[in-house]
Amino acid sequence: MELDNMAVDPDHFRRGYGSHLCKYGIDVAAQDKIPVGIIAAKMGACLYSSLGFKTTVQITLADPRPGKKASVDFWVQKWDPSKSPRKSWQRYCWRWCPTRHLA
Ligand SMILES: CC(C)(COP(=O)(O)OP(=O)(O)OC[C@H]1O[C@@H](n2cnc3c(N)ncnc32)[C@H](O)[C@@H]1OP(=O)(O)O)[C@@H](O)C(=O)NCCC(=O)NCCS
Repeated sequence: MELDNMAVDPDHFRRGYGSHLCKYGIDVAAQDKIPVGIIAAKMGACLYSSLGFKTTVQITLADPRPGKKASVDFWVQKWDPSKSPRKSWQRYCWRWCPTRHLA
């Protein structure tokens, strides 16, 4: 199962809404004992890590045009019901956050 396009109104960031949305998706997958995949942007990667997602691979897309230096990072992350007991939802995000060095 893939979670896609998750967003919270910026006026309501850091109030737990993103976690609730993501946990709902995890609950649905957990009932069927299937993993959840996500392609995370920087803002989402910390949230998903805090909920037990593990980074499989990091991808950097760079602008190939001469003289252009823009790039964007993505983290391919997976939540596996066999490796992610519910207690992993406790927030250890900052310790394991794959983007914390970018903050
Ligand atoms: C990513 C997003 C959905 C998070 O929603 P949210 O409601 O703010 O998330 P929560 O309040 O549930 O945050 C839970 C935890 O995730 C982590 N987290 C969330 N946003 C973070 C940020 N910008 N930087 C670092 N950690 C962050 C924190 O550990 C946070 O816990 P804390 O507030 O107790 O420290 C929201 O920032 C958003 O809509 N961003 C723009 C769209 C986007 O990038 N979506 C993700 C695409 S993959």
